[in-house]
Amino acid sequence: MIWRPYQQMKTLPTPYRIVDAEGVFLYTQNRRLIDSISSWWCVIHGYKHPVVTSAIIEQAKRFSHVMLAGLTHESVERLSAKLEEILPGDLKYSFFSDSGSVAVEVALKIALQYHANKGNCKRIKMLSLERAYHGDTFKTMEAGDDKEYHRILNVYGEKRYNIHIPTTIPALENAFEQHEKELSCLIVEPLLQCAGGMRIYDVSFLKRARELCDQYDVLLVFDEVATGFGRTGNRFVSDLVQPDVVCLGKALTGGYIGHAATVVNEKVYQAFYDSDPQKALMHGPTFMGNPLACAAALASISLFEQEDYLEKIARIETITRGEMEEFHDERIREIRIIGGCVCIETNDPFTLDGYREFAYERGVFARPFLNCLYAMVPYVIEEKELIQVLTCMKDWFKR
Ligand SMILES: Cc1ncc(COP(=O)(O)O)c(C=O)c1O
Repeated sequence: MIWRPYQQMKTLPTPYRIVDAEGVFLYTQNRRLIDSISSWWCVIHGYKHPVVTSAIIEQAKRFSHVMLAGLTHESVERLSAKLEEILPGDLKYSFFSDSGSVAVEVALKIALQYHANKGNCKRIKMLSLERAYHGDTFKTMEAGDDKEYHRILNVYGEKRYNIHIPTTIPALENAFEQHEKELSCLIVEPLLQCAGGMRIYDVSFLKRARELCDQYDVLLVFDEVATGFGRTGNRFVSDLVQPDVVCLGKALTGGYIGHAATVVNEKVYQAFYDSDPQKALMHGPTFMGNPLACAAALASISLFEQEDYLEKIARIETITRGEMEEFHDERIREIRIIGGCVCIETNDPFTLDGYREFAYERGVFARPFLNCLYAMVPYVIEEKELIQVLTCMKDWFKR
């Protein structure tokens, strides 16, 4: 029996059984559906892309997996070099893992140990945002702020090691003033908070965060698991404001195989680089640097670079803005658009009950959550298909 995510198994709606997938389409036995959410935001090139698929096959013909302790291989070395090349500034040391949650766990562990290695064991708290989501493992749940998703954490009572703030500069400044001596890091989903409800905030917040982190020697961690590789219209938000640590996942492999990276800058790396074994980073996922995942990531990044994906994403944004411009409904609180993401937030979550089935009948796969009806399409989507997705969203309110 499969235990499904985020749902009460007793009342679970039947999942659609996929028998094939290609481009932006998922195929059931008798339907073709546009995947309007890119399989949880990661399948940026669409399905069965020949370049990514053949990279995986070629790697599999050589070997599918070797461990990364005591062994190395060409694909992981090339991926590490590629990330060093495409990430801004001196973000150049990559620690690989198998999922976004683990990449964030590693970042939080690095932040704690960064200070401990420098002799300061008092910096044990993290600063994070209200409505943050950073994954479902324990430390990432703590950094997250969603009482519904992570309601089990409530059994511990008040969070001891985390402070949540809204995305306003006064709140940020105030938190630094009050807690500067106990903070290890500030962790944020930069510009776009996805699972917390597709909430967009201004880059000025990140710029001020950078200044304060520098001033108080607090590490700035960007969780770009969802925003990385173009989703906000920027290749990385880290191109706008440079963090000390960046977490990548999801689209890192084009969504073909789960993999993630925690990439740190020179300052952070140097706090660990020592002849003292106590200062080493004690972490090592079995599948870190998996060769199939690295081969997929290299192919995915080469497509992203060679085929001007930022232009594709800008086109998606322009079409989306045009389609949503005149659209209003009294049940809608706000429509938010950034890069390849559009979210219609309703006043009431019940307004979206039944949308999944409605979309299915119209050839679209969607999965609204909270009071958010959203699309995060694969970047290769054609205009006609994108309009089909957006029309479906609007038609729901015209019934
Ligand atoms: C910002 C962010 N961080 C971390 C994660 C966790 O990634 P994973 O599901 O690969 O563990 C997600 C997943 O949605 C995410 O959106």
